[in-house]
Amino acid sequence: MTVDNMRVDLGARSYDIRIGDGLIDAAGAEICALLGRRKVAIVTDQNVAGLHLDRLTAGLDAARLQSSSLILPPGELSKSWQTLEKLSEWLIGEQIGRDDLVIAFGGGVIGDLAGFAAAILRRGVRFVQIPTSLLAQVDSSVGGKTGINSPQGKNLIGAFAQPGLVLADIGVLDTLTPRDFIAGYGEVVKYGLLGDAGLFDWLEINGKALAAGDIDRRRHAVRRCCEIKAGIVARDEHEHGERALLNLGHTFGHALEAATGYGDRLLHGEGVAIGCVLAFELSQALGLCSQECPSRVRAHLRQMNMMTELSDIKGDLPDANGLMALMAQDKKVQAGKLRFILARDIGDSFVADGVDLDVVKSVLDAALAARR
Ligand code: GLY
Repeated sequence: MTVDNMRVDLGARSYDIRIGDGLIDAAGAEICALLGRRKVAIVTDQNVAGLHLDRLTAGLDAARLQSSSLILPPGELSKSWQTLEKLSEWLIGEQIGRDDLVIAFGGGVIGDLAGFAAAILRRGVRFVQIPTSLLAQVDSSVGGKTGINSPQGKNLIGAFAQPGLVLADIGVLDTLTPRDFIAGYGEVVKYGLLGDAGLFDWLEINGKALAAGDIDRRRHAVRRCCEIKAGIVARDEHEHGERALLNLGHTFGHALEAATGYGDRLLHGEGVAIGCVLAFELSQALGLCSQECPSRVRAHLRQMNMMTELSDIKGDLPDANGLMALMAQDKKVQAGKLRFILARDIGDSFVADGVDLDVVKSVLDAALAARR
């Protein structure tokens, strides 16, 4: 098995990201070194458990690690106080302590939730991320953002807590539904747009083959996104500066997710894809980039059969003022002002505070008008 290794360099909290096909089977051997005693608690969801839990536990058994599992309902609604309470009580009941390990085995929801539960259990127990979705492998499993949603907004309750290890088994990406895979691809595109024009060029050429299952191209995309993220997180762990670039598309995207109830109407990565188009439209409307930029972003996402427009979202949406009110709940509000990630070009983004809200409204009005 070829395994790519990279390090998130954070002093005493540094850790490895390992990327390979078949890493789930090897997880027992991989995590042995992290353990004080031989006990792990696996947190997963029904979909991932049905597909991959036997492989993970077999690998843990082979390494003579004792494991127990909590299997939660899939979906964003599990990032709730209720599920956090259930999970925390379960971990306490399993007597998971600081010498033990929590394994977050699933997509972004499980990673955020289990990471947060580990962060607050006994003031912090260690955890390993084994991300099984494309979105989690390229983004959410790396960098230590953990948390749950509030009815008032996404990820409003949480903590920075770095995992001890990330094991990204690219072989499991084959088992994602096309919709889930392509939603995760929204985050891959984000990395090219925010800071790596070469990656975006590469995706325009290789995206189709990658989506069709080409393992080498999948490995390349996951590795490149993790490299970019590892670098950004090492330089700005707590998002005082550069890390905010990773929120490209998210101010719009989170508002759309809130407006659609965090459910099946709009997956997180779909919101990010539409949000990236809107961020480039806003940049163009503010005279920061040429019209060619949003057109090129839209063209590539369309080529990949991704959502790009508000009209791609089924059902009603709030008007522009309603969407802006939802944006105002987002974590990215600074001193009462909306913060956007804007772009001068593909691969050249920056953090912008104090954006003229009339221009934001006119971009949203135009996007909403296209629905009618
Ligand atoms: N997903 C954005 C970040 O980790 O900062």
